This record gives sequence, C-alpha cells and structure tokens, in this order.
Amino acid sequence: MNAKVYEAMNDQIKHELYSAYFYLSMSAYCETENLPGFAKWLKVQAEEEQEHAMKLYDYLLDRGEKISLKAIEQPPVEFKGVKDVFTKVYEHEQKVTGLINGIYAKAVEANDVASQIFLQWFINEQVEEEKNASSVLAMVTKLEGSLGGLYQLDHQLGMREAD
Ligand code: FEO
Repeated sequence: MNAKVYEAMNDQIKHELYSAYFYLSMSAYCETENLPGFAKWLKVQAEEEQEHAMKLYDYLLDRGEKISLKAIEQPPVEFKGVKDVFTKVYEHEQKVTGLINGIYAKAVEANDVASQIFLQWFINEQVEEEKNASSVLAMVTKLEGSLGGLYQLDHQLGMREAD
C-alpha cells in the first residue's frame, strides 16, 4: 500500500477510538445529569465508533499491512449541558468527515482503487453521522428552557438500538 494512504488509515483507527472515548465520556456525563436516554444514545454511538475502528483494522490486515496502534488522548470530562454535548458531537463529526475525505484524497492520488471503494462506506456513513448529530442538536436547541420537552426527547433518544 502507498505509505501515505497506509499512515492516514492507521491513524484513523485512533481517531475512531477517540470518538468512542469522547462519546462514552459524554454518555457518562448525561448519566450523572439524570438523562438516561441521552446517555444511551451516546453509548450506542460509542459502540459504533469502535466498529468503525475495527473496519479499518480489518481492512489494513486484509491488505497485508501492519497495525500500529497509537495513544488515545483523554476526552473532555465536563460539559455545560446537553446543548454543549451535541454541539461538540456535531463539530466532532464534521472534523471526522474532513479526516475521511483527506484519506480518500490520498487514495485517489495514489491510484489506490481498492481503498477508494472501501472508503465509500465511511463517506456515506459520515453523511448519516452528521445528519443524526445535527438533528439532535436542532431538537435540543428548540427545547431549550422546556424541562418537559427535554425529558420527552430523553425518552425518545433512549429508544436507540445498536445497529
Ligand atoms: Fe466514526 Fe462518528 O464517525
């Protein structure tokens, strides 16, 4: 594999695992705020991020590459409420989209067609990830100041199941 494509993909394993860590930290925060539905949604999201990391891990091994796991930094612990949480989720997903697009650009440059096809799943997934985050953020923003509305949304988000 082209070295730049390999390095970017190998690094992406860490970025996806960091995403899992970040969402799990947010999930724990929501538990302490007595919002179990928000916590469940974020925990399911954290599990999905681990799956994303494993997709990259398996792909690199399938291509005969070495896995070099990098250190995962500590995520934030304190948040200023669910609007702050979902603002951060949305911003984070936009950042991840940029990273995926960057790997894709490297795969195009290296004429690595297999990686381009592999990355299409992630490109589509990012459209979904950004849509989900922005829609929860929009609902949270709309419900600001309404405790009843917030609890209703908490109930709704708690119904999210793992894929
Ligand atoms: Fe793995 Fe939320 O992107």
